[in-house]
This record gives sequence, structure tokens and C-alpha cells, in this order.
Amino acid sequence: MKPSLLVARAVFPEVLEKLTMHFELTSNQDDTLWSSVELIRQLQDKVGVFTTGSERIDAAVLSACPDLKICANMAVGFNNFDVVAMTAAGVLATNAPDVLTETTADFGFGLLLATARRITESEHFLRAGRWHRWRYDMFAGAEVHGSTLGILGMGRIGQGIARRGAHGFGMQVIYHNRARLDEATEVACGAHYVSKEELLKRCDHLVLVLPYSAESHHAIGAAELAQMKPTATLVNIARGGIVDDVALAAALRQGRLAAAGLDVFEGEPTVHPDLVALSNVVLTPHIASATIPTRRAMANLAADNLIGFLIHGQPLTPLNPQVLGR
Ligand code: GLV
Repeated sequence: MKPSLLVARAVFPEVLEKLTMHFELTSNQDDTLWSSVELIRQLQDKVGVFTTGSERIDAAVLSACPDLKICANMAVGFNNFDVVAMTAAGVLATNAPDVLTETTADFGFGLLLATARRITESEHFLRAGRWHRWRYDMFAGAEVHGSTLGILGMGRIGQGIARRGAHGFGMQVIYHNRARLDEATEVACGAHYVSKEELLKRCDHLVLVLPYSAESHHAIGAAELAQMKPTATLVNIARGGIVDDVALAAALRQGRLAAAGLDVFEGEPTVHPDLVALSNVVLTPHIASATIPTRRAMANLAADNLIGFLIHGQPLTPLNPQVLGR
């Protein structure tokens, strides 16, 4: 008998077909939003689950689903997993790194350009029929080329943004990260390591690309925003919760920060009304990795982790490989 698997959200039909070759599938192809109680109900007797970043797998879920052996996330971020609890329960966690790096870096840079150059704000103005004549300072934004790009979190996506800034736009790139990169990688990215304080003070554009955890919760709050230039822009393509959205909205409203580009929000898909009310914010619905080839590659990697582990004993991108030997 084939092992039983749950696909918790809608996914590409060909990925479902591939999984069907190996597993007895239950699939939420209707993409119904399940409560945690419903998720637990659906997980009964399943040995594996295909998740996106939206399904929370924690100690309560694990103890209610004793057959579960692997959770494969179709996302590079995995803050929806309590990896410590999963490891304690002997459940493998996998994510979907690498395949989305360049696509996500493209989007981060695009959001920076849209924010600094006021692209969506000016489009709204035009669509509202308010464009009657040219004016020398109309929608004058911030310079991107030649300015200072700050990156907080310098993993693969941060490095992709650094390369675009340094080599494509002639920017001075400074970064802060838990660990400094080796010299060869710094040279390839054209990036210089600085303290978080120096990063905040010096940058003209700050891009956040760090993972979300208890440690990075509100890494950018009122105190950090106060250290930034009032002409600076902030872009968040990492996770909601890294920025204190209320403090950010206040800084933007009071002219203490020029503009923000946000793809992620605290409590998304709800977006704080203070942010929605501001015209100097570009808002997008968590789409940084959203191209069809990249989303397909992410879905295939999650599926291959399930097949690799449950059928061949070898996952591709395990987050807690220590459970493998057990
Ligand atoms: C998207 O946010 C991801 O983590 O892949």
C-alpha cells in the first residue's frame, strides 16, 4: 500500500500527478483555508504533508498527528514550522531554498525601484485623472544609481540584491548579518560589512532579507527607524513581524522616513490600516517569488523532498537532518 500524504494547499496539477505515483493523496485543491483543528483532522493517518508557508506545524499539531514523519514546505522561509518541536518528535522538516533566489532578488530590486521612484503612487494619480500638466518636481523621488544600498540579512537572496545594486546600478553596498561573509563572496557581491547601527545611519535604501524568528521580531522598530535618514526608503521582502508596522506607519506619516515597499506584513493577509492609508508605501501581497517557473520549481522541490525521504530515505533539503539517523 502506498503511504498516505496530505497536500494542504492547491498546487500545480503536474506536481499532484507526480505525488500520486508514490502516495495515496488527499489534496486541498479547492484551496480552502483550514483552521488548525481542521488541519489536524486532515492530517490523521498521514505520514507526510506538503505545506506552504501558511500552515503552522507546532507541538500541538505534532502530538495530535503521531503518524507524521515529514513536513515539506513550498517556501524557503519556515517560520511556520516549530523545528525544535519537530526534531523532538522525530519529524523531518524541509524547505525550498535556492530555486527562488534570483527571482526573489529581482522582485526585491523592483520593489526598491518602485518605492524610491514613486512608480505606483504616480500611477494611481494618473489613473485618477489628476494629471493635467508637467511640473518640475512632480513625483520627484530618490536617486537609486550611485546611492548607498543597505542590506539586513545577507543570505542567498541578500547577495542577489547586492550584486544587482553593486554591478547593475553602481551602488555602494553595505550589509549587516549575523555572520560576516568570506572575503571572496563580499568581493563578488561588491558588499562591505558594517554594524547594524552604521547600516541604518548610512543607507539611502534599506532592504530586509533576514529570516523571521523570536530574535528578529521587530528588528526594525521605532528606535531603528529613528536612526535612518528621513530621505531613506525601506523595503521588506522577508517576513512580516521583522518590522513593527505601527512604528513604520508613524515614521512614514511624520516624514521621518521617505517611503516603504512592503511585500510582507504582520498578521498578513491583513494589512495594518495605517499603512494602507499612506500614499508613500508600495504594497504587494507576498509575491516576491511569484513567477510560474519559480513557483513550479519550489513545488517540485517540496514534492521531491517527500518522495526522496518517504520512498528513498534521502530528502534533498532537510532542515533538521539529525532526525534522519533515528
Ligand atoms: C516566501 O516567502 C518563501 O519563504 O519562500
